Amino acid sequence: MSTAWTSRYALRAKNIKSSAIRELLKITQKPEIISFAGGLPAPEVFPTERFQEACNKVLEKQSRLALQYGATEGYEPLREMIARHTVRYGVKAKPENVLLTSGSQQALDLIGKLFINPGDRVLVEAPTYLGALQAFNVYGAEYVCVPSDNDGLRTDQLESSLRLGPKFMYVLPNFQNPGGTTLAEGRRHELVLLADRYGIPIIEDDPYGQLRYEGEHLPPLILLDRENLRRDDGYSIGNVIYLSTFSKTLAPGLRLGWIVAPAEVIAKLVQLKQGADLHTSTFVQMVAYEVARDNFLDEHIKLIRKVYGERRNVMLEALDEYFPPEVTWTRPQGGLFLWVTLPEGMDCHQLFEAAIKENVAFVAGDSFYAANGFAEEGRRHFRLNFSNAPPGQIREGIRRLGVAIQSQRRKLHPEDERPVDQHVFD
Ligand SMILES: Cc1ncc(COP(=O)(O)O)c(C=O)c1O
Repeated sequence: MSTAWTSRYALRAKNIKSSAIRELLKITQKPEIISFAGGLPAPEVFPTERFQEACNKVLEKQSRLALQYGATEGYEPLREMIARHTVRYGVKAKPENVLLTSGSQQALDLIGKLFINPGDRVLVEAPTYLGALQAFNVYGAEYVCVPSDNDGLRTDQLESSLRLGPKFMYVLPNFQNPGGTTLAEGRRHELVLLADRYGIPIIEDDPYGQLRYEGEHLPPLILLDRENLRRDDGYSIGNVIYLSTFSKTLAPGLRLGWIVAPAEVIAKLVQLKQGADLHTSTFVQMVAYEVARDNFLDEHIKLIRKVYGERRNVMLEALDEYFPPEVTWTRPQGGLFLWVTLPEGMDCHQLFEAAIKENVAFVAGDSFYAANGFAEEGRRHFRLNFSNAPPGQIREGIRRLGVAIQSQRRKLHPEDERPVDQHVFD
């Protein structure tokens, strides 16, 4: 007799959906499609030779360590390197404040496991990173959503949500995914002060902070929390847990990220990680360390900033040229994404169908909202990635999207007689 597997799934597995983006990647891998969907880095900038040298070095000199089980906390020299890097930003982290994870995605899962009981509220931005929602949903999170604008999360609307007593708030201050927006400096101060006043911890997710193409670096929340509150409690880190990753600066295939947190929280996360995967690949950590060391990573990030900064500019210029004036978009100062707002009545899913016919793809906006109350709002947006496609394809892809938008526009306004391929909008 064959087993009825579905009847045996645990409650937490029953309501889980596949990530809209992971599903989309199946469509967008077709060669004829120009995809602005995934958050993929440009493969041309992967430092392949440096990786090759690092692999050889690790295998020649330290293979017995690299191929063996390792400590759950992570490869010590890499922990130290991350702690030094964190100190550079003013946060007094020590290696015991650092846990290496299998990507930031695992960090989000471990945080969900550590903090969320079924029915607990988590405060998130609307919109927010859908991978975080996927991670937290498994643990039965309910959400309190705070809207954002061009300056990031609306701190003026935060207090009433904090009064609802969320377990923690999850925020992306730099070049937000999906919005592309950056939390303004004044709002950063307000956020840490309000979080402290209401006793709500902050999870600061910062995969893109180093990828800034214009403007000045802004202080992370983990630093402002220390400075503003003049904490003198013996801990080097207070109310903020900080996450970052090598995915966007070295290579996402490494699956290597990290958590900076108070040592007591790290110790608890270590126990949970043991149950998940014992430890992140020793070999990968050692290779990443060899690649990053001697200033290589800093130099490499300069190259990435140049390449992605140019691609962002190409996309912004193409949007100006090919999109009608009633469509608007954010102007990110860094990161990988920008966020498009459609005019009243235009629906991003219908637009997606039209876009696929033109061989171009994006991610529909409603995937990025935690609460059903935002479903309608979500359908007026979509996310575009500008890091993955080369400049020529970015221009062509935006031109095709312009055609798809024009076809939707004509459905909405059949009296508009202009031809579908007319790209000068007035
Ligand atoms: C905001 C945010 N957090 C976490 C992640 C996961 O990154 P990683 O590849 O390190 O798992 C991503 C990936 O795109 C992201 O955008």
